[in-house]
Order: sequence, then structure tokens, then C-alpha cells
Amino acid sequence: MKVGIIGSGKVAQTLGTGFAATGHQVMLGTRDPDKRELKEWMAKNGPRVAVGTLAQTAAFGEMLVVATRWSGTENAIKLADPRNFDGKTVIDVTNPLAFQENAPATLALGFNDSAGEQIQRWLPRSKVVKAFNSVGNAHMFKPAFPGGPPDMFIAGNDTKAKKDVTKILTDFGWGQVIDLGGIEGARLLEPLCIIWVAYGSQMGSWNHAFKMLHK
Ligand SMILES: NC(=O)c1ccc[n+]([C@@H]2O[C@H](COP(=O)([O-])OP(=O)(O)OC[C@H]3O[C@@H](n4cnc5c(N)ncnc54)[C@H](OP(=O)(O)O)[C@@H]3O)[C@@H](O)[C@H]2O)c1
Repeated sequence: MKVGIIGSGKVAQTLGTGFAATGHQVMLGTRDPDKRELKEWMAKNGPRVAVGTLAQTAAFGEMLVVATRWSGTENAIKLADPRNFDGKTVIDVTNPLAFQENAPATLALGFNDSAGEQIQRWLPRSKVVKAFNSVGNAHMFKPAFPGGPPDMFIAGNDTKAKKDVTKILTDFGWGQVIDLGGIEGARLLEPLCIIWVAYGSQMGSWNHAFKMLHK
């Protein structure tokens, strides 16, 4: 499948590497396709990957991923042209972080709204699925932990889109994929990122992920 990733930061690069390694064609979209670090990323990842403008990337992808800084996400989607998202599954990896100096991150919105719902409103004809937002980028692809593969929570309105994202998560090495229902489940998933960050700050270590235990 052709996967277009809106964004070119660490998350975009890690997921792009994962998609290419699992047999997909990938394009990363950025305002500056000439960035040197992106040329290096392409050289490392071989012929399955490319870098383009935001609009080229959104047009290229049969499935799209939004992996931009929250404050720039609306602008990135406008530059990518919302019509290029019509009918497509869109994996939303963003966290609406409000950065504060010398303090743990907090969310810029929540309780009765979320970044996932906002993106779904900006892209009313696409199928937004929140995923990958509750773990650091270093563990998004092939997460390896002594206790076995961690679990990933997802939320979205479209059942088929969630099935496709579940297959991707399984191919990427995740354990259970836990579906929290409609995209309003992003109200629960985005604070999970804050738990992940707060625990990392306390422990001074970023090698953790969530797992649901049953009996
Ligand atoms: N880092 C993690 O481990 C992690 C884990 C889970 C979720 N997330 C979430 O995933 C998203 C990406 O995180 P990241 O760490 O890879 O990078 P980031 O620094 O949060 O975002 C970088 C990307 O945002 C784009 N961007 C920033 N301002 C923009 C603007 N005004 N207009 C258009 N595009 C803009 C940049 O575009 P250009 O390429 O054009 O410069 C770049 O592609 C964030 O929402 C983050 O909260 C991150």
C-alpha cells in the first residue's frame, strides 16, 4: 500500500521506516523537502521511501498518517489540501501538548474535546483513527520488552479503518489492539500520553509502554 505521512519529525521517520520495512511504499510530507536529515533518512531506508511536499504526500497516500506538532497541525492539513484526505483512513498520532518550561507537559484541550476529534472535524470525509500516541517514538515499531509485546489503544468512528490499523499495529509487533470505540475515545488516549511522559520524567527513563492484563 502507498502510505503518506504528514510530518517529517522523529515520529514520521520512525513510522515511515516501519511501513517500508513491512512492505509499503512511503512518502514523508514536509514544508521543506530539501532538509538534509530527510535525505539521510531516505538513504538509510532504500527505494521504498520518498520525501515530498505536504500536498504531494497527501495525494500519494492511499492511507495517511498525521504526525505533526499539534500547534502546526491545522496549517499542515491546509497545506496538504483536505480534499486529498477524502475517503482515506487517517492515522492520528498527534498529542495536543501545551509546552511549559521546566514543567511536565499538559494538554491544550481535553475533557469534552480532543485532537483526534478536531482532526476528524477538519477532515469530515476521511476515517480518522487515533493510534501510536501513547508511546515514545523509539518503541513505535517492533516494541521489544521483557514482559512481551505491549498493547496499543485505538479509537475511531469507522470499523473497517480500525481493522486496517489493527493489522498495521500487529505487523509492527504490537500485542493486543484495544479499541475504545468512536473517535471521542481520543479524549482518553491523549491524557495517556501525559501519564507516559510523567512516569518517564520521574524515572529518568523512557523505556516503558502500556499492557492490559486479564484473568
Ligand atoms: N516524539 C514522540 O515520541 C511522540 C510520541 C507520540 C506522539 N507524538 C506526537 O506526534 C507528533 C509529531 O511528533 P514529533 O516528535 O515527530 O515532532 P514535532 O516536533 O512535534 O513535529 C514535527 C513536525 O511538525 C511539523 N510542523 C510544526 N509546525 C508546523 C506548522 N506551523 N505548519 C506545518 N507543519 C508544522 C513539522 O513540519 P516541517 O517538516 O515542515 O518542519 C514537522 O514535520 C506530535 O503531535 C507529538 O505530540 C510524539
